[in-house]
Amino acid sequence: MRILKTIHGDTSEMPIWFMRQAGRYLPEYRALRETTTDFISYCLDSDKASEATLQPITRYGFDAAIIFSDILMIPWAMDRNVRFQTGVGPLLDPLPSPDALTSLDRQLIISRLTPVADAVRKTRADLDRDKALIGFCGAPWTVSTYMMEGGSSRDFSLARKWLWQDPAAYDVLITTLVDHSIDLLVMKAEAGADILMIFDSWAGVVPSYLRKRFIIEPVARIIAGVRANGIDHPIIAFPKGLSDGFDDYVHVTGCNVLAVDHTVSAEWLDAHLPRDVVVQGNLDPLAVETGGDAMLASADAICAAFAKRPHIFNLGHGIGQFTPLDHVDQLMRHLRQKRKNSA
Ligand code: CP3
Repeated sequence: MRILKTIHGDTSEMPIWFMRQAGRYLPEYRALRETTTDFISYCLDSDKASEATLQPITRYGFDAAIIFSDILMIPWAMDRNVRFQTGVGPLLDPLPSPDALTSLDRQLIISRLTPVADAVRKTRADLDRDKALIGFCGAPWTVSTYMMEGGSSRDFSLARKWLWQDPAAYDVLITTLVDHSIDLLVMKAEAGADILMIFDSWAGVVPSYLRKRFIIEPVARIIAGVRANGIDHPIIAFPKGLSDGFDDYVHVTGCNVLAVDHTVSAEWLDAHLPRDVVVQGNLDPLAVETGGDAMLASADAICAAFAKRPHIFNLGHGIGQFTPLDHVDQLMRHLRQKRKNSA
């Protein structure tokens, strides 16, 4: 698998996949989505989840598939009344305080998520052997923001305020999420995922003073917990919006790949990270939505900056639902040609 070669240090290959590659920009995804009433039952239908996972591979031949699911499946299993409303996004019953949950049975939570393992198993069986399958979870901080705010948020002020007001209470929620995340990642790895990924989409809003406690250490504990279960799969971590401290983040968490968003320059990262750190990223998804020469020039600049280190080409965040397919076509043709020229 091209992507595993890269993760193990090879700089000659440049595997390509896109965050949210199985999503609404694909007409075949929208058609499949229409056959289900709600998003949660879609994620829990292992046949449909597997089909959605494979759609972007069939269309674009990406080097990795990411299992179709959501980071909010853990809060769903925790009875937080998770639902997705069209035009609004996710809605949950907000927690009155971060330590308000009564103790939850780990086995029960994970058993509610077994359809996700079924989807992994089915997908791995249908996916080409040279393509990797990625299983994922959300990082505790990011998942906790949805649980505290009751959904998406503009500035996460409610969750952030708790970090200052009662950090010990916040630790309780984080620890619960660390435990369920370990269980979920282990389950996905055992079901056949080749690579694991931890999405910390809102890492950047945690004040730097509290970063170690609420961003770095929880992810380090998840990775150590996965390893303690005998799982040695590569782990990609995506601390979106982390404006500095990348070296420390990689070192302390023990992640194998650092995924970076589009706000950090590839040149700066390359100059500041040890040579052996594998990076993934970081084209702005809006560059792809807009298309044209600027998209290609920005992709070229990323490839040039990371030319001497193992690099997985990806976006800085998920591909947008209004992205025209011909822009993705053009970008993929361009990247494949580059790959061929440098081989
Ligand atoms: O290809 C893939 O990446 C598919 C699997 C996947 C989804 N969500 C499917 C999805 C993954 C890896 C996620 C991760 C996820 N979910 C994150 C972390 C990555 C990121 O984007 O920051 C977050 C924060 C969520 C929470 C979430 N899920 C929100 C805020 C929303 C609503 C916003 C929106 O785009 O509508 C979702 C819904 C969701 N998850 C969709 C998809 C394809 C769109 C909803 C639909 O099809 O009805």
